[in-house]
Amino acid sequence: MWKPSLLSSCLLVLAGLARAAPYTPKGGVGTSGTPPPVYVPGSDFDFQSLNLALNQEWIELDLFHHGLAQFSPAEFEAAGVTPAYQFLIEYMADQEVGHATLISNILQGKGAKRCQYTYPFKTVPEFLDFCQKLTRWGESGVYGFLAHLDSRPSATLLTQSITTEARQQMAFRQLKGLFPMPVWFETGITQSMAWTLLAPYLKTCPAENPRIEWQNFPALTITNNPDATKEATGGAAVSSNVTALSYAGRHVTLEWEKPGKKVSYNNSYTTSTSAGKPKYAAWISQLNTTYTELKHIDGRKASTTQPGGNIFSNHTVAGGNSTISAPLINDTMFVLIVDDNPHVTPFNLSLLNKHVVAGPAIYQAG
Ligand SMILES: *[C@@H]1O[C@H](CO)[C@@H](O)[C@H](O)[C@H]1NC(C)=O
Ligand SMILES: *[C@@H]1O[C@H](CO)[C@@H](O)[C@H](O)[C@H]1NC(C)=O
Ligand SMILES: *[C@@H]1O[C@H](CO)[C@@H](O)[C@H](O)[C@H]1NC(C)=O
Ligand SMILES: *[C@@H]1O[C@H](CO)[C@@H](O)[C@H](O)[C@H]1NC(C)=O
Ligand SMILES: *[C@@H]1O[C@H](CO)[C@@H](O)[C@H](O)[C@H]1NC(C)=O
Ligand SMILES: *[C@@H]1O[C@H](CO)[C@@H](O)[C@H](O)[C@H]1NC(C)=O
Ligand SMILES: *[C@@H]1O[C@H](CO)[C@@H](O)[C@H](O)[C@H]1NC(C)=O
Repeated sequence: MWKPSLLSSCLLVLAGLARAAPYTPKGGVGTSGTPPPVYVPGSDFDFQSLNLALNQEWIELDLFHHGLAQFSPAEFEAAGVTPAYQFLIEYMADQEVGHATLISNILQGKGAKRCQYTYPFKTVPEFLDFCQKLTRWGESGVYGFLAHLDSRPSATLLTQSITTEARQQMAFRQLKGLFPMPVWFETGITQSMAWTLLAPYLKTCPAENPRIEWQNFPALTITNNPDATKEATGGAAVSSNVTALSYAGRHVTLEWEKPGKKVSYNNSYTTSTSAGKPKYAAWISQLNTTYTELKHIDGRKASTTQPGGNIFSNHTVAGGNSTISAPLINDTMFVLIVDDNPHVTPFNLSLLNKHVVAGPAIYQAG
């Protein structure tokens, strides 16, 4: 064991004097107290990222209330959603009031106001399924940009709201009777990917809402997506051993739109792509973007095969336990059509945007 000599003790004391504060190792950003933190956007990038997140918070607030109003307590009970669970959904709506207020404050009143929305569900299970999907892209959409924000003070506040949203996403999986968190890491996506997924559900917005500057990619549909509504029938549970919804090697069929379609509120946005010919499906899950080749490409239809693989190879797992690993493809995750297969990692995922032909679509892998 290392024991400090007199000399090294003196050096440690001297090094300590050079520090900003006692017991505070050198480095880090914004820990000295001056200037004091200001919770405002640091750039257009910040404003646009936060305003996108604000639009997401508004729809969540509306959606949770809407579901509670659309279905009777008896209909919820029939789907295994007890009065206590219905109150949980009500409470989650209240949390959205807090989140929308927080981001509106950061944007100093210049952010989006609440809109009118359109929803695709007709039953309680479909409502819960839509909620676990919408909160998935809400959560992942923020992870994609948090560490890229210029304003670290704003990022700190946003972290504290998105971790609450992460719990909502998991709670909706539990309300559906799905395995709560079948991954080791929650994935991130880019703002344009999140906006593409959100845009179709905004019907009309106030004219003064700031224009969203992110790209709308053409929509992608997985025509044989595993259906969590049909396959997880055990009812609400903290955890469950639902039969795997998908598997490596599964044949997946895809269909996408051409660019140039008017979408989102007041039909005031237009889908676009800067990519070339479709070549691969990109699977974004955990820390990884994995590509599989498109087969039977026929216009804007193709098929591909669900990839296998583990998040870490057996030999690189901490502790070297070769019997434990997590499948890369699981959970409520993302698939896109791309024209190339660049190696991208969580901090440079936005380099994939220019290769997107269509999507993302949500893939219900588990
Ligand atoms: C996803 O994770 C669950 C829970 O660990 C597991 O039962 C299931 O087989 C996994 N699915 C895939 C596709 O690996
Ligand atoms: C969208 O349409 C609504 C209803 O007609 C209108 O009140 C609103 O100002 C419009 N918003 C935009 C952004 O044009
Ligand atoms: C759940 O599934 C896992 C993996 O198939 C199995 O090892 C475990 O015994 C099951 N647990 C229960 C309670 O059924
Ligand atoms: C997934 O990403 C992690 C972190 O970048 C990396 O260590 C691992 O090798 C990747 N796994 C696969 C199967 O590519
Ligand atoms: C390795 O993981 C397996 C499965 O979780 C466990 O049963 C076993 O005890 C672990 N071995 C070591 C050496 O940690
Ligand atoms: C990892 O270990 C599991 C269990 O021993 C084994 O089934 C699997 O083939 C191994 N994967 C790789 C990539 O070596
Ligand atoms: C993304 O970052 C990884 C390192 O994390 C690097 O290997 C890769 O080349 C980068 N991708 C692109 C497209 O620059």
